[in-house]
Amino acid sequence: MHNPKQVAGRRAAEFVENGMAVGLGTGSTVFFTLERLAERVREGLKIRCVPTSIDTENKARVMGIPLVELGKIDALDLTIDGADEIDGAFHMIKGGGGALLREKVVASITRRQIAIVGAEKVVARLGKFPLPIEVVPFAREVIHRALGARGATATLRTGPAGQPYLTDNGNQILDCRFPDGIADPASLELELDRLPGIVETGLFVGLAHVLVIGREDGSVEVRERATALPRAGR
Ligand code: 5RP
Repeated sequence: MHNPKQVAGRRAAEFVENGMAVGLGTGSTVFFTLERLAERVREGLKIRCVPTSIDTENKARVMGIPLVELGKIDALDLTIDGADEIDGAFHMIKGGGGALLREKVVASITRRQIAIVGAEKVVARLGKFPLPIEVVPFAREVIHRALGARGATATLRTGPAGQPYLTDNGNQILDCRFPDGIADPASLELELDRLPGIVETGLFVGLAHVLVIGREDGSVEVRERATALPRAGR
């Protein structure tokens, strides 16, 4: 039996070409992409990479993957990142690992975004996985109430000692359940973005171009998005 994350993560690294500026996502699936990219760098691949989290930055550094600051890059050729759920239109829930804000910033300047997942994360409707919402600590209770008024149940993400989990940006995360799932991800994203105090949501609408699905039998399926959607925030 194969690890679906490993086969998807390694396969996605093959999309990277010499000279590219590459966004590096965050999480356990991306870890396998990093491993394969590091092998390719040792074989002579020349790339510059922007990590989406301190965790990925540390791992990439240890593995010898060349890094560059986000501010030094106008656009990224390719970004490879995981997802917590992805639907048929390639809309995603992300942020299970807490890196949603930097992941979305990096995705917003990426020409070709590749989502890498195990097959169980491909869903008909988003929302079984709780939607991570990054909030400034000052506004947390206000946002909590606003989400409750919309019928959602929000839970503050906590760390191992029960303290509020803090993102790389010093913010907190509310993990949010919608009773019937998320029928219209684009509308929900716009609605949530209008609430002061929400820094970013884990809804990634129209950002992924390619979906790489790994399976336990070791096979990998690559899907290209059928329709061109307007890019969020651009
Ligand atoms: C981190 C993310 C990750 O991409 C997502 O949580 C998937 O993680 P994993 O590959 O570990 O299952 O959005 O913020």
